[in-house]
Amino acid sequence: MLFSTLAFAVLAPLTALALPASESHSDASLVARKPGENLCSLKAPPKLCVPNKNITVAETAQRAYDFYRAFVVDGDAEKMFSLIDDVYLQHNPGYKSGPLVIWPLFCGGRKIGSEASTSWCFDEKTGMSWAKYSTVDRWAWVDGCVHEHWDQREAFPSADKCYKLPAVATPAA
Ligand SMILES: *[C@@H]1O[C@H](CO)[C@@H](O)[C@H](O)[C@H]1NC(C)=O
Repeated sequence: MLFSTLAFAVLAPLTALALPASESHSDASLVARKPGENLCSLKAPPKLCVPNKNITVAETAQRAYDFYRAFVVDGDAEKMFSLIDDVYLQHNPGYKSGPLVIWPLFCGGRKIGSEASTSWCFDEKTGMSWAKYSTVDRWAWVDGCVHEHWDQREAFPSADKCYKLPAVATPAA
């Protein structure tokens, strides 16, 4: 509490400078939450992924990267679950299916590792993505959402199988 009070005292003037005439957000779902924030007071994820057949392979690859970042690097539970559908077929024998079952594992915003010490992959041929840290997770993507999960002795694909995201353009100064 002390820390967040201090952080607010430091950040609030900067925010005021950066957004001199900002309108207040009317959408309550846009309440500012920081990646890694503990959301365990919420009984369920703030939002889940809505399947959309129009999502392209390129968009799914970007989402697979965003999912890995949220899950492994940022501990961003809100972002992570916004990419999981309401089915989440679970193949780990210790857990039942469904996003609500795993919400308590991730709501605390735990960070697992840096990008340098972990890996991700999306295979556009199979629509599968992987994250490698102390173990290897695999997910099947359906209509732009994480739909199915395996983590029992999964093999991480060779680099040639992994989708290459376009390089992010550096904004002009
Ligand atoms: C998908 O694309 C079709 C054709 O453009 C459009 O009519 C439809 O509303 C889109 N669906 C969604 C969920 O965006």
